Amino acid sequence: MNNLYLDNAATSFPKPKPVADSIYNYILNIGCNVNRGAYSSAYTAENTLFETRELLCNLFNFSIEENVIFTKNITESLNILIKGFIKSGDHIIVSSMEHNAVMRPITSLSKLGVSFSRVPCDNESNLRLDEIENLIKPNTKAIVMTHASNVCGTILPLEIVGDICKKHNLFFIIDSAQTAGFIDVDFEKFNADAIAFTGHKSLMGPQGIGGFLISDRLNCITTPLIEGGTGSLSESESQPDYMPDKFESGTMNLPGIFGLNAALKYINNVGLSSIREKELELTKKFIEEIKNIKEINLIGKQNIEGRTAVVSLDFTSFDNGEISHLLNRDFNIMTRCGLHCAPSAHKTLGTFPRGTVRFSFSHFNTLEEVKYAVNSINDLVKRQ
Ligand SMILES: Cc1ncc(COP(=O)(O)O)c(C=O)c1O
Repeated sequence: MNNLYLDNAATSFPKPKPVADSIYNYILNIGCNVNRGAYSSAYTAENTLFETRELLCNLFNFSIEENVIFTKNITESLNILIKGFIKSGDHIIVSSMEHNAVMRPITSLSKLGVSFSRVPCDNESNLRLDEIENLIKPNTKAIVMTHASNVCGTILPLEIVGDICKKHNLFFIIDSAQTAGFIDVDFEKFNADAIAFTGHKSLMGPQGIGGFLISDRLNCITTPLIEGGTGSLSESESQPDYMPDKFESGTMNLPGIFGLNAALKYINNVGLSSIREKELELTKKFIEEIKNIKEINLIGKQNIEGRTAVVSLDFTSFDNGEISHLLNRDFNIMTRCGLHCAPSAHKTLGTFPRGTVRFSFSHFNTLEEVKYAVNSINDLVKRQ
């Protein structure tokens, strides 16, 4: 088989063709900046920019278009959201499954006296909901949480976490990197104050475009990390305080926005639930077959309920890095091994520091490809 890409949790591939067409059209036929030129192509670019904010509002069930902010990825978004309002002496709650895009901005604030607590999860990554309220202190400001684990695919119960935030008047910031585009990430239902997103994973856009949606109540106490030209209020040397200009300084990634625009339309056309259904069908087949191979430990949830199409395997009597390398070298299968920028998640799952081999499917994969992956894994473990 030619190259089989099973690393969609890192970045999705392939992208829908209209994504490439839209970027090509921007580069070839439009090419200009927004908010800076009074000519027709600038208006075309501005329309697409505005439409992309609308598409994101629809996707995340959010109603304030000007509070949809573009950044270069979810890492930048989470940095802005966390560092923009957390103050010296504040306390934050996270889950034990967080990616370093959440953990590193938080731990870097420890020099300001900011502390954090982790809500424990069990070894299937089920969140210990009963522990959350015990962790809330008088100085707790926010809960920051991923919607699904990038290591083992478990979906976290954010609706319940959102209710707890509401009850205790905490800000709720959601990392949607592993769910947006195939599961509802609902601003209203989750009682969110911010949803951070990245364009290049399950949203199927290009790399280099991401963003966040922010409530008015969080926005009014959040300061931008980057300030500069916005094409607006040019007579002033101070940053505009209105949205979206407050957080969008410097020339934007317009090829990225055009690509993301097409990706969001593609998701609308195919439908979130069809994408999810297809991914689960593939994941179910993979898990069922893998469970028959005794040399492998399936990490996290043992079935299809409450999970995404991300599957981590521990090849117990082998080196996981070597397995990932051999899958690529001998079978043209691309996976990701190691700790996946989520050391705490691996500690929770019992796979630290060994790491796992992660297989992550997209709806573009086929059952034949799943069978090929399983056969290749079988060949590998029998070879040793
Ligand atoms: C759960 C989660 N959060 C954040 C990120 C960071 O994404 P990006 O590199 O697009 O900023 C990732 C990507 O690996 C992720 O899986």
